[in-house]
Amino acid sequence: MAKILNFAHRGASAVCPENTMAAFRRSLDLGATGIETDVQLTRDGQLVLIHDEELSRTTNGSGYVKDKTLEELRALDAGAWFGDGSFAGEKIPRLEELLELLLQRDTVLNIELKNGIFPYPGMEEKVIAAVRAYGMSSRVVISSFNHYSLVHFKTLAPDIETGILYMEGLYRPWNYAATVGAEALHANHLAVLPEFVRDAAQNGVVYHPFTVNDPKRMEFLIDAGVAGIITDVPDVLAGLLARKGR
Ligand code: G3P
Ligand code: MG
Repeated sequence: MAKILNFAHRGASAVCPENTMAAFRRSLDLGATGIETDVQLTRDGQLVLIHDEELSRTTNGSGYVKDKTLEELRALDAGAWFGDGSFAGEKIPRLEELLELLLQRDTVLNIELKNGIFPYPGMEEKVIAAVRAYGMSSRVVISSFNHYSLVHFKTLAPDIETGILYMEGLYRPWNYAATVGAEALHANHLAVLPEFVRDAAQNGVVYHPFTVNDPKRMEFLIDAGVAGIITDVPDVLAGLLARKGR
């Protein structure tokens, strides 16, 4: 039986500021076998890891990521907002820093293209170049809520796995996955039923539901046959997988 992937959502985001190197490193210590992160483009075309298009929730800056240069973004604090402030000094990472961290490991990286609101033309090409430069093509899955972008990505890099992000209501999403050229369904976990997982598998499509933090729900999805789970608490999932021999 294939191992079920344990994707740390934005890194170990329950215990560290999301999408920081501290969060990524900690997730590996907590047993994650995969990491999910969100990528956007700076004004000068660099790939940075941050969830919101606007800076003020997770940094001491304000305004949009797309309007700032890498240098301006690197001057911001992306850790002080979290918990007791002990992560002050954490920066917005570049995608390349995370690829570097994973170089000597077998962790799978789920790069979510955050291009649903701002389309970030050219981001697909830059992500492909970075992933290839680090020899990670066979260890990444690229997801997005922007399915036009996923089609574009697949045209550029047919060998790199893609995953369709969606919230609910897709009819026979495994057929839709074939249309988009995707291998995986990154569904809101509440939209996942065991018969969907079974039918998707029969059509060669796997499920990686997000964001699952309740152990009972994790167990339900594991028993349903998902290939991976995206969670804020990779330690909880790692413990459960160990107990179930998965
Ligand atoms: O990739 C799964 C999940 O991260 C999608 O939603 O908003 O957390 O990026 P969000
Ligand atoms: Mg995400």
